[in-house]
Amino acid sequence: MNDKVLLITGASSGIGESSAFAAAKAGYKVALLARSEDKLNKIANAINSEFGNDTALAIKTDVTQLEELGKAIHTTIEKFGKLDAVFANAGKGLNKAGTENGDPREWDEMIDLNVKSLLWTAKMTLPHLRETLGHFIITSSVAGKIYLPGSVYGASKWFASGFGHNLAREMKEWGGRCTIICPGMVDTPFFDEPKPDKLKPSDIADALVFALTAPARSTVREIEVMPTN
Ligand SMILES: NC(=O)c1ccc[n+]([C@@H]2O[C@H](COP(=O)([O-])OP(=O)(O)OC[C@H]3O[C@@H](n4cnc5c(N)ncnc54)[C@H](OP(=O)(O)O)[C@@H]3O)[C@@H](O)[C@H]2O)c1
Repeated sequence: MNDKVLLITGASSGIGESSAFAAAKAGYKVALLARSEDKLNKIANAINSEFGNDTALAIKTDVTQLEELGKAIHTTIEKFGKLDAVFANAGKGLNKAGTENGDPREWDEMIDLNVKSLLWTAKMTLPHLRETLGHFIITSSVAGKIYLPGSVYGASKWFASGFGHNLAREMKEWGGRCTIICPGMVDTPFFDEPKPDKLKPSDIADALVFALTAPARSTVREIEVMPTN
């Protein structure tokens, strides 16, 4: 019960996967949520063989399904006994850019994930985080800080950032912390084509660990990480 416990959504690839390893290395137990069971099991097995059995728990979850998400949080508490931190990281982009050319069905799916599941994850984990004076971390984006022509994805990340800053003030009332991470372009399966000269997922995992391991007196409210080029 002395190890800290981190729940990560979108842990099956990219930023979430890299963060799972980085957090385990920093001494966290990690609950890994995503829909791809095979990928999650592989990641959990790799973490467990490197950092000790029972470090990682894979929980196949579609976080846009309220009940599934609730069950996954419950399973995490059952397994690890508490929740010290939550990394609300699951998110997706859009194939059809812009507003006039956008696809409303695709918007629905993205809003379910980038907006609604973020809200649900916060609502359902806050009672547990309150018990540990815990930490809620959000993957927003630099797209949630700038104006991009017609970008509905960008608007979803403006929501993530705005909500995160509001949540930070709510959590502060009881000594909790909230961090918003705003990456620029990261080389992950988020993009169809590789982006080898941009950020690596480990750059964002480093930012997560920096915020998580800051002394209790210090809240890292927002981190913007941009590719140098
Ligand atoms: N890559 C970038 O340049 C960049 C920049 C700024 C911000 N971001 C943000 O970073 C976050 C992580 O993205 P990434 O770049 O690491 O991309 P990624 O490799 O595509 O990861 C996305 C993750 O979200 C999970 N996910 C998608 N739908 C889900 C659902 N319904 N339920 C549960 N999990 C779901 C995916 O797993 P399953 O498919 O297995 O469910 C995957 O683990 C996102 O919020 C993204 O918007 C990315």
